[in-house]
Amino acid sequence: MNLLFNIGGLFQNSALVDTRTHRNLYKFSFGYHMVKKKNNKPRSNSSARWLQRQSNDVYVKRARAEGLRSRAAFKIEQLDQRDKIFRPGQIVLDLGAAPGGWCEYIVKKTGSTGNIVAIDILEMRPIAGVSIIQGDMSDQAIWKQILDLISDGRVDVVVSDMSPSLSGIKDRDEAQHQELIDIATRIAIKTLRKNGIFAVKLFESAQRKAYMDSMKPFFRSIGIRKPDASRAESKEIYMVAKGFIDDNG
Ligand SMILES: C[S@@+](CC[C@H](N)C(=O)[O-])C[C@H]1O[C@@H](n2cnc3c(N)ncnc32)[C@H](O)[C@@H]1O
Repeated sequence: MNLLFNIGGLFQNSALVDTRTHRNLYKFSFGYHMVKKKNNKPRSNSSARWLQRQSNDVYVKRARAEGLRSRAAFKIEQLDQRDKIFRPGQIVLDLGAAPGGWCEYIVKKTGSTGNIVAIDILEMRPIAGVSIIQGDMSDQAIWKQILDLISDGRVDVVVSDMSPSLSGIKDRDEAQHQELIDIATRIAIKTLRKNGIFAVKLFESAQRKAYMDSMKPFFRSIGIRKPDASRAESKEIYMVAKGFIDDNG
């Protein structure tokens, strides 16, 4: 900081200094200060913890070794091992699919006769056997694109790993995530065929019980899962709802 004040003092004593120069110097000083801070104290505690966790994480290592797109692939594999979600020939909607870890797993399980439609706001590299739609699930035009890709408008499985970009403001993050859960639920209820399966990421929150109660009339069985690959410190959990009670006709 002393160094910054000294540089500032030097410029302030100069006849060449005008208002604009002062503004630039302020920006420069601020930038310099940030660089120094970055070098001396490289990262905040939370990002250092995140990096440490990533490098020690057994699922990150396995995903790299197996050339998978994300460690999330192990979550869907573990949900499937527990709940027997996927079978050859199924039609599956994968909501919030990027970068594609779940899709890579699902496409192997549903085989060449299956049909997967993957949707995400973010761009996703192609995967053989997967139709990718880039768009926001809250946009009705995206729903139309999805329905256009499904021959009779019915699917066997809807999975959603959608999560918002977290702001750190608890109420706001929970509200945004609940909105994504509601969107996934609406499309599941609209498209699932009789006995279909819906697996959705939830967060431990005050709304969780009320939401699950609201799902009971639609499914024969509902379970909450915390796969081993889901970090213990994360509040995410998954609801797996099976045996859709078809009101779709
Ligand atoms: C945890 S990531 C999904 C990881 C994915 N299951 C995998 O295996 O690679 C959550 C995703 O939800 C997506 N997402 C969030 N809001 C969305 C929305 N409104 N519509 C579509 N995708 C959304 C994000 O862009 C992000 O890619």
